[in-house]
Amino acid sequence: MTSGDLRKKYIEFFKKRGHKEIPSASLVPEHDPTVLFTTAGMHSLVPYLLGEKHPMGKRLVNVQKCIRTDDIEEVGDNRHLTFFEMLGNWSLDGYFKNEAITWSWEFLVDKKEGLGLAPEKIFVSAFEGDSDAPRDEEPIKIWSELFKKSGIDAKVDVPLSGGGRIFTYDKSKNFWGPAGMTGPCGPNSEMFYDTDKPHNPAFGKICHPNCDCGRFIEIWNDVFMEYNKTAGGKYVLLKQKNVDTGMGTERTLAILNGFDSVYETDVLAPIVAKIKDQIPKTKTTAHKSKTEEIKSIRIIADHTRASVFMISDGIMPSNIERGYILRRLLRRAIRHGRMLKMPENFLAPLIEVVINIYKENYSDLNRNKTKILNEIKKEEGKFEKTLEAGMREFKKIEWVGVADEALPKRGSFAGHAEPQISGKVAFNLYQTYGFPIELTLELAKEQGRLVDISGFQKELRKHQELSRTAAAGKFKGGLSDQGEQAVKYHTATHLLLAALRKVLGEHIYQRGSNITAERLRFDFSHPEKMTKEQIQKVEDLVNEQIQKNLSVSFAEMALEDAKRLGATHSTSSGSPRGIRGAMGIFETKYGERVKVYAIGDEKTGIFSREICGGPHAANTGILGKFKIQKEEASSSGVRRIKAVLE
Ligand code: ALA
Repeated sequence: MTSGDLRKKYIEFFKKRGHKEIPSASLVPEHDPTVLFTTAGMHSLVPYLLGEKHPMGKRLVNVQKCIRTDDIEEVGDNRHLTFFEMLGNWSLDGYFKNEAITWSWEFLVDKKEGLGLAPEKIFVSAFEGDSDAPRDEEPIKIWSELFKKSGIDAKVDVPLSGGGRIFTYDKSKNFWGPAGMTGPCGPNSEMFYDTDKPHNPAFGKICHPNCDCGRFIEIWNDVFMEYNKTAGGKYVLLKQKNVDTGMGTERTLAILNGFDSVYETDVLAPIVAKIKDQIPKTKTTAHKSKTEEIKSIRIIADHTRASVFMISDGIMPSNIERGYILRRLLRRAIRHGRMLKMPENFLAPLIEVVINIYKENYSDLNRNKTKILNEIKKEEGKFEKTLEAGMREFKKIEWVGVADEALPKRGSFAGHAEPQISGKVAFNLYQTYGFPIELTLELAKEQGRLVDISGFQKELRKHQELSRTAAAGKFKGGLSDQGEQAVKYHTATHLLLAALRKVLGEHIYQRGSNITAERLRFDFSHPEKMTKEQIQKVEDLVNEQIQKNLSVSFAEMALEDAKRLGATHSTSSGSPRGIRGAMGIFETKYGERVKVYAIGDEKTGIFSREICGGPHAANTGILGKFKIQKEEASSSGVRRIKAVLE
């Protein structure tokens, strides 16, 4: 089965059960300061999970591209990935546990409409309960009956050898979300596939679905969102109950095809093949074993695919936040390329392959092809330089030995099995020169030297603690406050755009928007620097609307009607993110009906009308004082305003 077949089957199955298909949201979660990346389908749907009405209805189905970096060290095994696609069906204040689980089951085992997996290969889990939320009995009951109908006596919480089929776990395994620290969440029930591989006792005495030995592969997760976690850490029942499910495309495909790893599926195999193509036949790689070589190939395949999607969604390599993650992925891929003795610019042909695989489902990739190729090539060049500088430093250590007081003079340790490169020096290479520790190890080994790895790790831990403290400081306001602040900034952004159009003219369109709990940043089309007077006028106009305490409301309407009313939306700048940004989560393909937010009403006059997914403050009075801090060029023909609410 190909990825195309699986997508189609899934979407059709749920469409037939009343679901409407919605497009994948960007990897950059819009107006959500609590996460760096879209790690699941829920980020773009949070307002609807909390009670706003979705214009497409109560039953949705989608394929969402996701980035998860917490498993980055695991990438290279047979199933962990940083980028993947998640198939999901959604119920917003509609069906709940019974339908969700029954449909999951049908989709897994039905031979015609579903995947036709053998029922005896499926194992499931449920939430065991704790002081926050009770044991989730309903899924256990539903699963028992479904298994029974297939002739399986599904025992609960007994070992596999005794017929165990349904297993309960604590929050760490069977409670989903909230994505940040607060928000919609609930118990979940996961489905696992038994590969029948022998259990590896290194992972525990006996095997069970959540054992990490590799026998069981988790393929689907049904989340029953019935709680909202508050800033005070309480789990309060949500007014509306939701279902959020997620099935991993690559893993499911691997299982369906009897593959040993996700890298054999049609979305990764061609990338792997192209990598293998480029490994010079005449050189020996830097790897100790074939297994290590395969790991390098997989890391390159995964990281390149993730990078292509990230750049297409507007992320650029940098030293902070998303850009840093992208840089790390690219540099790791390049380094593994070097270990395989790949030629220069070996990533370019891989990018072409990635785009080719996905171009039908993600047309933005082809549109952004030049940008993607250029950015990755640039990063390859920069990293080469970094490596050179690092190498120079490395050589200094070798010849002079002054980079660290603990470092012995050249040759003085010859023949001694003691570290010749201290942890401090290794860390300095890593920190200052971006020199990965693996490379230091590799080079040291080539010269018959040893590296003080535990010393390096000690330095690294020290550094990580520092940066964690800094990050915690950044979020000390609590995430619910953060969420509220971000919502205010979102409404202020609408006021700003309307004010800019009134002061500067109708040629002003949104070109980008980025909101945190501390500020808004807004990019718009305008050919020249704004004058002091213009900035003042815009600021005053926004503050006037705040003082008037205008109401904020929305209406759903046909896109054509929205346009007729003069609702703003992005220009056809060719940037998919721009379009999505202004259009909320809708794309014209699906979005005959859109949501239009109005600030002001018939009585006060409508100050702003914008096609947008929300959420917004209920009225402008709560925004506080609006202050423009900076107006500057962003790129050619695009200006950028940074503003705060005081
Ligand atoms: N949001 C759930 C997950 O990602 C479905 O597992």
